[in-house]
Amino acid sequence: MRPNQHELVESLRARFGARMVETDPEALAPWLTDWRNRFHGAAPALLSPESLEEVQAVVALAGAAGVPLVPQGGNTSMVGGATPPADGSAVILSLRRMKRIRALSAESSLAVAEAGVILAALQDAAQEIGRRFPLDLGSRGSATVGGLVSTNAGGTQVLRFGTMRGLVAGVEAVLPDGSVHDGLSALKKDNRGYDLNQLLIGAEGTLGIVTAATLRLVPSVVSRAVAWVGLDSPEQALRLLRHAERRTEAVESFEIIPAEALASVLAHIPGTRAPVDAGRRWHVLIEAVSSDPGERAPDDLLAALLGEALEAGLAQDGVVSASEAQAEAFWRIRHGISESERARGPAVQHDISVPVDAMPGFMTGAGAEIEARFPGTRAVAYGHLGDGNVHFHVRAPAGADRSRWYADEAPGITRAVHDLVVAAGGSISAEHGVGQMKRDELARLGPASRLAALRAIKRALDPAGILNPGKLVTLAPAPDRP
Ligand code: MLT
Ligand code: ZN
Repeated sequence: MRPNQHELVESLRARFGARMVETDPEALAPWLTDWRNRFHGAAPALLSPESLEEVQAVVALAGAAGVPLVPQGGNTSMVGGATPPADGSAVILSLRRMKRIRALSAESSLAVAEAGVILAALQDAAQEIGRRFPLDLGSRGSATVGGLVSTNAGGTQVLRFGTMRGLVAGVEAVLPDGSVHDGLSALKKDNRGYDLNQLLIGAEGTLGIVTAATLRLVPSVVSRAVAWVGLDSPEQALRLLRHAERRTEAVESFEIIPAEALASVLAHIPGTRAPVDAGRRWHVLIEAVSSDPGERAPDDLLAALLGEALEAGLAQDGVVSASEAQAEAFWRIRHGISESERARGPAVQHDISVPVDAMPGFMTGAGAEIEARFPGTRAVAYGHLGDGNVHFHVRAPAGADRSRWYADEAPGITRAVHDLVVAAGGSISAEHGVGQMKRDELARLGPASRLAALRAIKRALDPAGILNPGKLVTLAPAPDRP
């Protein structure tokens, strides 16, 4: 442990006791590597404050000692956003013990949840008062409110209620100088200049430590149904989406899955079964939800939509869930894709967006181009078609050596994919953030005005670089574009 880290750890122990500081390498190990096992960090200590005041003390003392802090919630980042630097210079600041739901109101449809509250717990708490927190993703059992806010998380239910940016009504955070931004009051109107709440959402812990958030709740679900549709192409899927949008506002998810991703799930996730002919080239999962018993039942609505789609040639076959258990089984397939892709071996992931109408052309064109340029690779794109966001994974050729492929081939593939995304007017980070995985690509692709503004904000709020070093932007000038 470096002398300044030792000084920080000892003063925290003296003030808060042993519970605040963990230095046992075995206890620290799970928090030093990211979920995908791509980034391996080092840190001599993990700090676990239990209140806003304790986070304030940690940030102030770390600032005085010059020890960078890496904020961490459920450690489910897809871009190495919560993994400490490999040189051991930083310590981890875990928010997991801040797990109180401070307020929950059906009347105002708001919840105030601390940073360490796990998404599933928040969803359950909202349900108990007859409301719903609508954001959902595969890691709901581990992802925490602080991480969801700090990454502006998306997921599979964005279509109707938006990403975290739209669901956060207020943020409480400790800023790098140890002061507190208290923005929890959920004002409908507040025009005092720059919106600090929005600045902290998606800032990846580089501008402040989010300690709590006020979150919007929506009416709870009275009934829901899920349709699984087999079709020929992403173009056809988009036409089906547009048809559904014209007919109803009840559709909350519209996810596209290629046959290859379905095959991976069937092979690697126990208990899964193809809802329609697994040989269809493309599959779509559509969820419709009703919050009012007087409304048309979602299963009936989806059955009608499916009938129209088959008649209009927008689908080849399909089935509507006949029970909640079947709806869950369809979702298990969708949420199992990441896990099953991980089991398939080395692959490089890109979380990208382009305008929704451009997505089918991008999926087909970019997939063919990458496979042609990098022989033996397979491009598999799946996900949130309704949001113009897919996860564009490129698998290594069969038999490739894992570490050599990641070191020698993956960076070139990523640059090629991102160049295609930029040419299509898209974003190289749709919902996972930048973290350390995309930091250099963001620096390469700019645009320069955006990078200059991001750096100026970082420099102004965190001049000493105390918070989440090495993520999102560095303060050194960007390398020139080749
Ligand atoms: C998903 O939509 O499944 C997640 O964002 C995870 C992934 O990128 O694989
Ligand atoms: Zn996703």
